[in-house]
Amino acid sequence: MLRTRICNIELRNPTMLAAGVMGSMASSLNRVYRAGAGAVVTKSFSLEPNEGYKNPTTVEVTGGIINAIGLSNPGVEAFKEELRGVDDDVPLIASIYGSSPEEFARVAASVEDYVDMIELNVSCPHAMAGCGASIGQDAGLTFRVVSAVKDAVGVPVSTKLTPNVTDIVEIAKSAEDAGSDALTLINSLGPGMKIDIKTAKPVLSNAFGGMSGPAIKPVAVRCVYDVYRSVEIPIIGAGGVRDFRDAVEFLFAGAVAVQVGTAIMYDGPEIFMGICRGLERFMIEEGFSSVDEMVGLAHEGV
Ligand SMILES: Cc1cc2nc3c(=O)[nH]c(=O)nc-3n(C[C@H](O)[C@H](O)[C@H](O)COP(=O)(O)O)c2cc1C
Repeated sequence: MLRTRICNIELRNPTMLAAGVMGSMASSLNRVYRAGAGAVVTKSFSLEPNEGYKNPTTVEVTGGIINAIGLSNPGVEAFKEELRGVDDDVPLIASIYGSSPEEFARVAASVEDYVDMIELNVSCPHAMAGCGASIGQDAGLTFRVVSAVKDAVGVPVSTKLTPNVTDIVEIAKSAEDAGSDALTLINSLGPGMKIDIKTAKPVLSNAFGGMSGPAIKPVAVRCVYDVYRSVEIPIIGAGGVRDFRDAVEFLFAGAVAVQVGTAIMYDGPEIFMGICRGLERFMIEEGFSSVDEMVGLAHEGV
């Protein structure tokens, strides 16, 4: 009943691990899949190793967390070892980033044989200059990055967008025009910050970071809803999903699948099983026989 497909990739259910949480090692990617996720996305990685920011890199706030990890990763060559260790039956999505279309294309080409899909992180709100949201806030640059990757690889590509723009639909359309096979909406919101009232200093070493968790869900659902009306390609929703009700909202807004990040830090990977059981029960009670029937329902008659 929960089976679905996205860009011809068969998924046993419409849930995915979001990039950045439990996604740096083969063992944790395998574990999340065994715990019930339909697919897993790696931590974002780049051509060269990147140390990221100093601690503290995350802080809890009302309704979620703020993180500025700074896209730390060991570089594509080292990351390939982890990709090789992911079990064959696990639908695997590599999240990659870079500072130019050429860099994105090189990273994508070097991992395409190991993965089912590539997700382009053009949306991190606390990346170093020239990376992350500074790309995804520019429709032309987004177009060039997606085009370069599409020229370089045969696997499907999903472009992950930032909500921190005036018009997310414009950016979504330019990714689609450049050949993106899917969109992932949204990366963390912000940047936001927290100040320690005892020291009068920002808590995070980077001062500000991306907000995630339940507080950003309404923004994420609205982004999916808006973009769904304007593109033909499938949308993967992300932002504040904790239970099946959140997943249903994203599906009704127009997503074909949902990613879960922050909630795993609270509930562990077992959260996937809970979301799937709840979703299945909801579908039976409400008379849905497939996930497809639910996608975009909030638009009917509007
Ligand atoms: C600790 C942490 C690290 C993250 N790292 C990445 C990353 O490497 N690449 C990326 O595209 N998104 C990253 N994200 C963003 C998530 O993938 C997701 O888009 C966002 O957190 C919203 O979903 P959530 O509310 O379920 O966490 C990170 C989020 C968190 C909380």
